[in-house]
Amino acid sequence: MIRYQEKTNIFQLDTLTTSYVMGIADGSYLGHIYYGKKLQPQDLGYLLRTQEHPQTPSKLPREKMSFLDSFPMEYSFSGTGDFRESCIDIRDIHGQSGLELLYRGHRIYHGKDGLQGLPAVWGEGCQTLEITLEDTCAGIRVRLSYSVFEDSDALIRSVKVENTGTEAVYLERVLSACLEMDDEEYEMLSLPGAWARERHIKRQPLLSGSFVTESVRGESSHQDHPFLAAVSHNCTQTCGDVYAMHFVYSGNFLAKAQRTQFDTLRMVMGIHPDRFCWKLEPGAAFQAPEAVLVYSDAGLGKMSRTLHDLYRNHLIRSSYKEKERPVLINNWEATYFDFDTEKLIAIAKESAALGIEMLVMDDGWFGHRDSDDSSLGDWVVYEKKLPGGLKYLVDEVNRLGMKFGIWFEPEMISPDSRLYEAHPDWAFHLKGRTPSRARDQLVLDLSRPEVVDYVYDSISRVLHSANIEYVKWDMNRALADIGSVALPPDQQGELSHRYMLAVYELQERLITEFPDLLLENCSSGGARFDPGMLYYSPQIWCSDDTDAIERLMIQEGTQLLYPMSAIGAHVSDCPNHAIGRTTPFETRGITALAGTFGYELDITKISEQERNMVPGQIAAYKKYAPLIREGDYYRIASYQENHKYDCYEIVSKDQSRAAVFFVQVLHEPSVRSRKIRLQGLKEDAVYEVDGRRYTGAALMYAGLLRERMFGDFQAEVIEVTEVV
Ligand code: DGJ
Repeated sequence: MIRYQEKTNIFQLDTLTTSYVMGIADGSYLGHIYYGKKLQPQDLGYLLRTQEHPQTPSKLPREKMSFLDSFPMEYSFSGTGDFRESCIDIRDIHGQSGLELLYRGHRIYHGKDGLQGLPAVWGEGCQTLEITLEDTCAGIRVRLSYSVFEDSDALIRSVKVENTGTEAVYLERVLSACLEMDDEEYEMLSLPGAWARERHIKRQPLLSGSFVTESVRGESSHQDHPFLAAVSHNCTQTCGDVYAMHFVYSGNFLAKAQRTQFDTLRMVMGIHPDRFCWKLEPGAAFQAPEAVLVYSDAGLGKMSRTLHDLYRNHLIRSSYKEKERPVLINNWEATYFDFDTEKLIAIAKESAALGIEMLVMDDGWFGHRDSDDSSLGDWVVYEKKLPGGLKYLVDEVNRLGMKFGIWFEPEMISPDSRLYEAHPDWAFHLKGRTPSRARDQLVLDLSRPEVVDYVYDSISRVLHSANIEYVKWDMNRALADIGSVALPPDQQGELSHRYMLAVYELQERLITEFPDLLLENCSSGGARFDPGMLYYSPQIWCSDDTDAIERLMIQEGTQLLYPMSAIGAHVSDCPNHAIGRTTPFETRGITALAGTFGYELDITKISEQERNMVPGQIAAYKKYAPLIREGDYYRIASYQENHKYDCYEIVSKDQSRAAVFFVQVLHEPSVRSRKIRLQGLKEDAVYEVDGRRYTGAALMYAGLLRERMFGDFQAEVIEVTEVV
């Protein structure tokens, strides 16, 4: 529900349990007043402190700068006296910058507009507030958009900038959201990582200065995640305040929290301004991506569940989000580049007999690709490996009762490829400089429509050539040497964003032409696991680290924001290929239940004992899949924090069923059974666990005892069922 109180100039946006309040000072300056627990509408304008020194510019013109530098700006601007973090910077053709954005009007409407060319939250039961700010001197109009859904606690923001002047301007920074907070001590929670170690949860106090999490790699990245939360010191899974921002974008981002001289906090999020510069001709507009804001008064758990529901109900579009995903086997860790039709069919035969439903042929099936140093861009079947072509292989796999999926890395070009021979200028490069290779590959200049068309036609042709029901879209290097021969000098700063728009366009075309295709995004593991990608694909490969123990931390960080149905998780062979650890096959299976389930090993080579466990694991996946897809997630214990064990729970929406996933990482001698406290159950209901009955209250407050398991790396799934 969105209200505007005309008398007091106050906007109030209510979600299920929160209120977001803004006001206008001096008839001109849009200020942030409140974000927190839901309030009755009332005049909270006093919180703008316009009666205190410095007063507003109309009352105290001589101290205008002090006003601009202390007022809680709803969308901050710079160059005219606010020295804190700015959301927007414009340079005019005379080289000057400086803005003063003043309130001009607003409109409130039912529904929510899509964002041209960008992923965006969508759906029914929604209201939007659009506030117009303007700087007539610079000829700049800014439209701030805020949407709230009847069924959600999230607030969706975006920004559009228009050039209303008569000359071109350069947009050097345009962030999507700003949040001002007052007089509170917060800790910063972010999800940094590395390849094979993505999204580890980290918290640190912000005593002074700024905290930054960012990517300038052209992808949301392994190293940081487009997420930032300010949390109160007492914040746990179940209590304390959380102010979270999550960016619906897959490229460069900046998320920054700045503690000011007045001990206020300004948090901003948007496209990274480094190397960004967008030329806006007169009459042109720039649409910045969306940011999702969540406030939770009940700790991180409530924030997670709010984001999960928002993404399931209002971001993921694929019809697969409500369907059971096929249990797949991927040949990457099984064969790497060393495979042929015969080997794949042998894997498929064994897999089909065990109940696996889809074979995914990974990297190496095209051009003359025997290793990672050739052929990207040449999307034609490598006849030496696949004699008889793709159709023969796919038909054989289908004959075994299995679906077939395929791997692409569409955004790249190998210097050793026919494509590069024909079009060396199709790779991003800087004039006079040899571009840096990574994994022996270069990045296609997707700012060029002919390159985008070539890429799309290549994928489409392959998909039409056989019955292919799944695509793994990979991207294995960061962007560097970003220069294009196709854009004029003053538009080279547009390339990173144009690249992202082209990736989105390609994926949009793909799912439009092949609506039944199951698309899984991937980026060298989990370097592009972000809400932007989720708009196009219902699942994303979480990490190249498939070790059951490393995955506990990676999956915990991912589950903090994403529904489990979006998380690609596979059982792989041991010693694990990423870190060399050996864990029981059963534990690997239970860890992989935390997502879209599959195998990534040579099923013809594992021991018979392990092979015999596969049907049982598949049965467990099928049993828990609806709960995992639709249920509420509760984090009970974090191995990352306690270094001993990991535990989370999924509860059905009607609270009649739960599954608790428990991993004992290290066994300890001379210890008693472990007590875990469940969450999310009905206090008065009676539940059965292992044949014993408990009230929901007993399970949640008194706790459940688990016998220690013998050995390290042991796991179990505990079923909780209401007795009716
Ligand atoms: C990186 C992916 O994360 C892997 O699963 C695999 O597809 C390789 N790329 C193939 O090159």
